[in-house]
Amino acid sequence: MTDTPSAPDPDPTAVRPTAVIGVDIGGSGIKAAPVDLDSGDLVADRVRLDTPQPATPAAVAATVAEVLRRSTDGAPGRVDASTPVGLTIPAVVRAGKVLTAANIDPSWIGVHAVDLFRQALARPVVVANDADAAGVAEIRYGAGRDVEGVVVMVTLGTGIGSALFVDGTLVPNTELGHLPLHGDDAERYAASSVRKAEGLSMKKYAKRLQKYLALVERLLWPDLVIIGGGISRRADELLPHLDLHTEVVAAQLENSAGIVGAAALANPRPHDGSGVSATARGGR
Ligand code: BGC
Repeated sequence: MTDTPSAPDPDPTAVRPTAVIGVDIGGSGIKAAPVDLDSGDLVADRVRLDTPQPATPAAVAATVAEVLRRSTDGAPGRVDASTPVGLTIPAVVRAGKVLTAANIDPSWIGVHAVDLFRQALARPVVVANDADAAGVAEIRYGAGRDVEGVVVMVTLGTGIGSALFVDGTLVPNTELGHLPLHGDDAERYAASSVRKAEGLSMKKYAKRLQKYLALVERLLWPDLVIIGGGISRRADELLPHLDLHTEVVAAQLENSAGIVGAAALANPRPHDGSGVSATARGGR
């Protein structure tokens, strides 16, 4: 009787990719890093390049490809050429297509972002709204971890982004920064960029935020509101001035939330609800 050849044992010393790359596309910078999805930690330094101006889809895709090349080089063994990539963009993304452009170049409207980046990067990609991605990071690893019920994350930056979760499941593209307030989009009254542009003290800015969050509260009666964006680092100056029926806390992941959430969306855990698979993967 002859021995049947069997498949060789896997090489126990071989290192398999264990991280997923997240890319955060913002108005001024494009940032990326490989993320360990067990811990939510970045496993290599962030790579950042300036967002090209004008930030057309083709120019942004070329910069993302360069950022990605540098991120992959920076984490040998943890990521490779087939590692999926999650990307964020400050716009409504439905079924992979960009539908709005409040704070990005208008030429994005109608672009199928998943097809664009899949071709430019030659890898599996998902694309999600920036605030949705940041919210997923907070729900999975940060201030919204294990919180049941309705959680709203608002990101205060150039605009106001929002992410809505019901028992940990994302309801994508809520765009609560465009709720009407004082006769205009709320983000033109209460975004962090407005505070800087108008030189408002934190106390005066908190009054605007109070009005905005009271509106969000009236609409959704959430169980928890998470404040994200760069200003979350100064939450101790802001939160004491707010008076709502809802608990308000600062985000915990600060400026890596977009990268971490994008990576998480590229590799959603089964049943954890934080995926927006059909929408982010470009499914129709
Ligand atoms: C956009 C959102 C985005 C937010 C934060 C808003 O102007 O409409 O899609 O999430 O800015 O970047």
